[in-house]
Amino acid sequence: MAHPRNQTVLITGASSGVGASSAMLFLDKGWNVVAVGRDMAKLEANLPASSRLLRSVADISRKDDVSRCVEQAIARFDAVDVLVNNAGYGITGPFEFLTDEQIRRHFDTAVFGHMNMMRELIPHMRRRRRGAIVNVTSEAGRIGFPYNSIYEAAKFGIEGFSESIRFELGLHGIRVKVVEPGQVKTDFSRNSDEARAPELRGAYKGFEKIEKLMRDPDAGVEPAKIAAVVYEAAVSTSGKLRYPASAISLTVLPFLPDVLVRTIMRRLMR
Ligand SMILES: NC(=O)c1ccc[n+]([C@@H]2O[C@H](COP(=O)([O-])OP(=O)(O)OC[C@H]3O[C@@H](n4cnc5c(N)ncnc54)[C@H](OP(=O)(O)O)[C@@H]3O)[C@@H](O)[C@H]2O)c1
Repeated sequence: MAHPRNQTVLITGASSGVGASSAMLFLDKGWNVVAVGRDMAKLEANLPASSRLLRSVADISRKDDVSRCVEQAIARFDAVDVLVNNAGYGITGPFEFLTDEQIRRHFDTAVFGHMNMMRELIPHMRRRRRGAIVNVTSEAGRIGFPYNSIYEAAKFGIEGFSESIRFELGLHGIRVKVVEPGQVKTDFSRNSDEARAPELRGAYKGFEKIEKLMRDPDAGVEPAKIAAVVYEAAVSTSGKLRYPASAISLTVLPFLPDVLVRTIMRRLMR
């Protein structure tokens, strides 16, 4: 990839956590940054003004918001070289007690939101014969943790989507990457959705324990660590797809026989 000066990255979910940290890192490296979030006040509070920064309000689940955001980005900086699809939130609980509405809303952001951005930017990148798309997934895009089925379905979905689409986009010089974080200290757990029916507590053993582990606000690494991996993936010219990021689970669990993985997960639920 050419020198970052005059290169532009569009980052979704840039109003906090991994996205805000990535936006700051790309700015430090000399890039133009289009920072996307749903709340201008939050974007302004977390990302100081710069002539190379465009803050753009868009809900990625809304196609008209996404079209407007991409138009604004190209009008301001002429081109978008890298898309970082990072926006997202958690959803926990036994599938039986999550409503269809909660599940559809989750997929509208975590799957279709990413696709909305890609649909807008792929023709632009194809015409320029270059570009990179970095999809932020999770260790939960590779490993099935208990009581996380809907979040996993979305993240596994984006992993498979990325693993396939990289071949057709590769024909046009567009690189596709996935960054797979472990736990990160962000607002993620506070912003997460969950199953709410009171009867689930008695019906599903160990849910409280797993929920506590997943929602521990002090667990995990600083978002800057993940931002560094996002940057590495964005500028890499290699064909490598997956970039695990501070995810210890990914260094162990995928290599264990399933019988051992089942034992570990059952222990977690006890
Ligand atoms: N934190 C973790 O432990 C962890 C672990 C593995 C993977 N991840 C992944 O890392 C990514 C970033 O999460 P984070 O930890 O940085 O969480 P975060 O601090 O809660 O940030 C999430 C961002 O996503 C944005 N967002 C959510 N729904 C949106 C929508 N429909 N349209 C536009 N923006 C939307 C939020 O913007 P608003 O200001 O509009 O709310 C916010 O900027 C997510 O994809 C998450 O799944 C996180």
